[in-house]
Amino acid sequence: MIIDPRIHLIKERIEGISNIIPVISSKGGVGKSLISTALAWHMKDMARTGLLDLDVWGASDHLLLALSDRLNKFPDEERGIVPVNVNGLNFMSVVFYTGNRPLPLRGDGFSEVFLELVSITRWDKLDFLFIDMPPGLNDPILDVLKYFKKGKFLVVATPSKLAVNVVNNTLDLILSQGYSIIGIVENMSRGNSSYLESLTGKYDVEIIGRIPYIEEIEEEIDSLQSLMNGRFFRETKEIADRIFHLF
Ligand SMILES: Nc1ncnc2c1ncn2[C@@H]1O[C@H](COP(=O)(O)OP(=O)(O)O)[C@@H](O)[C@H]1O
Ligand SMILES: [Mg+2]
Repeated sequence: MIIDPRIHLIKERIEGISNIIPVISSKGGVGKSLISTALAWHMKDMARTGLLDLDVWGASDHLLLALSDRLNKFPDEERGIVPVNVNGLNFMSVVFYTGNRPLPLRGDGFSEVFLELVSITRWDKLDFLFIDMPPGLNDPILDVLKYFKKGKFLVVATPSKLAVNVVNNTLDLILSQGYSIIGIVENMSRGNSSYLESLTGKYDVEIIGRIPYIEEIEEEIDSLQSLMNGRFFRETKEIADRIFHLF
């Protein structure tokens, strides 16, 4: 049997990363991209931090990091591909390869992209790598479970009855595979999360932070400067601090 050499390479590539934190939810549009980008942005001031946008169909972290104009320049190559340095944050996304063109994939397509991207990216030494995941319990999360054995998952959810059932299945899958969950971030919180709270006892996970619904979010996304100075980043600082102190 021929073993894909990239599988061995991935092990080497992530050897120097102390904590890998996939930011997941089975639903789309709950704030994974904003939250993973904000947490990585805060964390880079406290520790060596990377951000990997694995949402190859809906990549958006480069927009939040104001990198649209940088897509025509491929990241540097030196014994691998060096993540793009954004004010000290090490960032990698498939958009550097696709130039933001659509990437329709079927069958093993995602796993091929994943193996290429992860086996070639040179993170070197990192304290934290946040992974912005696409929604769903499908190939991306299964590949992350398979190749990132040290993954500790951060679950994003909204306080809706509809979310609970889905979050329940997500927690069930991750925990049944022997992985740990850092906590649940309740986004677009309205101060009443009794639905989500019903899960914390069942699975012994905590709600690690609550982010309110922020009316002015679209204005904040206008530029990296307004995002950094805006309410969303202020509301996520404490969550980043908590994660930092957990490890
Ligand atoms: N706390 C919040 N308040 C208001 N709008 C939010 C909040 N969090 C996320 N959003 C909005 O929800 C949408 C989805 O966010 P995004 O981070 O792309 O989610 P995901 O990555 O889970 O699909 C975006 O339009 C974003 O502006
Ligand atoms: Mg997203």
